[in-house]
Amino acid sequence: MEHMTLHLRIWRQKDANSPGKMVSYTVENVSPHMSFLEMLDVLNEDLIKKGEDPIEFDNDCREGICGMCSLVVNGIPHGPQHATAVCQLHMRHFKDGETITIEPWRAKAFPVLKDLVVDRSAFDRIIAAGGYISVNTGGAPDANTIPIPKEVADEAMDAAACIGCGACVAACPNASASLFTAAKISQLALLPQGHPERRQRVRRMVEQMDNEGFGDCSNHAECEAVCPKEISIAHIARMRREYLRALLS
Ligand code: SF4
Ligand code: FES
Repeated sequence: MEHMTLHLRIWRQKDANSPGKMVSYTVENVSPHMSFLEMLDVLNEDLIKKGEDPIEFDNDCREGICGMCSLVVNGIPHGPQHATAVCQLHMRHFKDGETITIEPWRAKAFPVLKDLVVDRSAFDRIIAAGGYISVNTGGAPDANTIPIPKEVADEAMDAAACIGCGACVAACPNASASLFTAAKISQLALLPQGHPERRQRVRRMVEQMDNEGFGDCSNHAECEAVCPKEISIAHIARMRREYLRALLS
């Protein structure tokens, strides 16, 4: 297949205070080797040539690292490819002539700013609520002198892979931010450098998560299914243990 023609249904919304609606577009000359965001670039070039407003969507690295891309494709945050951020999703996973629906993350705590762009600053406030670590870890050689069992270091590293994209919130029927918050809590709770403030950290981050209007976790595991970094819901269990321990101390 040389090139594809795709029919797109895209959420258009002028600003945070205007109502939005789905708008249909057709985009031609899409190479199967293009990424999903490159396909949207082609559409935007067409719209600009016609003097129309291009579609706003968040992106930065386009390498699955920064967590900026945030599209719900055919009802699935980041689209149909398992463990793949939408910037790494390629058009060969779609068929010529297919109709694709593209929406922003849907959650009260992530208000739509324009088209497909949402405000994810609630995540920044959860991180800020966790505060600093007081331990001076020194340079890399000093850090390497602290003995940490390999399995613990590996688990902390798995948690640290969270890119803060928010797909877990978008997939959750309760719009819970538990997977994101749990990954950030686990990452520090597992390592000795994170132990001195672990109790106040978990209390403040969980409190901030609730204050931002995210829902409760009720173990649907939709978050784990869509996470591009395969963050495990086992981290949510650790967050709950950490929180309980903090309340009882
Ligand atoms: S836990 Fe996964 S889905 Fe949620 S913010 Fe982190 S990387 Fe994104
Ligand atoms: S644009 Fe950076 S992770 Fe997708």
